[in-house]
Amino acid sequence: MTADTPVILIFSGDRASAERCRALVGERFPRAEIGVATTQDEAAAWADRAEIAYGWGFPPELFARTRSLRWIQKMGAGVEDVIANPLVPHDVLITRTPGAAIAATMSDYVLASLLNAKLRTRLGFELQQARKWSEYAVEPLEGCTAGVAGLGEIGAVIAERVRAIGVEVVGWRRSRPSREYAPYRVFHGPEALADFLAPCDFIILVLPLTDETRGLINRRTLAGVRRGAHLVNVGRGGLVDETALIEAIQSGQLSGATLDVCETEPLPPEHLLWRTPNVTITPHVAGPLVPEKVVPHFIANLRRYAARQPLRGLVDRTHGY
Ligand code: GLV
Repeated sequence: MTADTPVILIFSGDRASAERCRALVGERFPRAEIGVATTQDEAAAWADRAEIAYGWGFPPELFARTRSLRWIQKMGAGVEDVIANPLVPHDVLITRTPGAAIAATMSDYVLASLLNAKLRTRLGFELQQARKWSEYAVEPLEGCTAGVAGLGEIGAVIAERVRAIGVEVVGWRRSRPSREYAPYRVFHGPEALADFLAPCDFIILVLPLTDETRGLINRRTLAGVRRGAHLVNVGRGGLVDETALIEAIQSGQLSGATLDVCETEPLPPEHLLWRTPNVTITPHVAGPLVPEKVVPHFIANLRRYAARQPLRGLVDRTHGY
């Protein structure tokens, strides 16, 4: 390969999106050889030649055959799948897409979750389905506190947007913040988790899935939340012990949950979460990977790669994100 003619494999479960990405990359790198795959079988044709893999939802076995691979650029922000994959050699660079490319829509999703919970939109819809005119009380968001767990690029935008609709915000992050998040309070480290959770009417999870965050919301932590709190998860399903979540909702400890992510995706039809009251489930759609928004980052990184400059969004495997 020469620097401006890399072999790139673009992988996505969505063909239209993958083709659009190919077109956008091809416009800027006309000499690059770009393969598009939406299945493991299609990817196999490119696997041994691809030097760069760009995409989302890579089949894990794909990396058993990627002999020329030097760099994986995730189309999204989460990288836990490639970090945990033993088939990805340790010297392969992993980069993620900056949260700015997806934060706006994720914030909209979180705002809708808060509003729907307080305005009891589900109940209204159920009554409508039954053609029943039956008044019910809605509650204000004013006076509520929302805790944003994970104040990275996406979480910080969500926190600002939530604050802008008059909700008190507190934040939590893994490590001591390197910058000021005023005007809201930021807790850090596992020892501060209980203090962070205690005042929250809404708990918003925007964390990456790592060894430290897996199962963060469990029986013990849920016992310490404010009774009737609502959980919103736009991070990863593995952050939550789903059995404990269901129990907390059944007992009234939580009033409900809005889940864009689940431990197992797609969520199996027989899963109890589908039948748990006051749970809204969406199929991992809160942070859409719009080619026009995410590909420019890849193109900028491709230029750096070709110029042998350091890549942006490089993942620290020891931190897990
Ligand atoms: C979406 O889940 C992402 O990782 O960007």
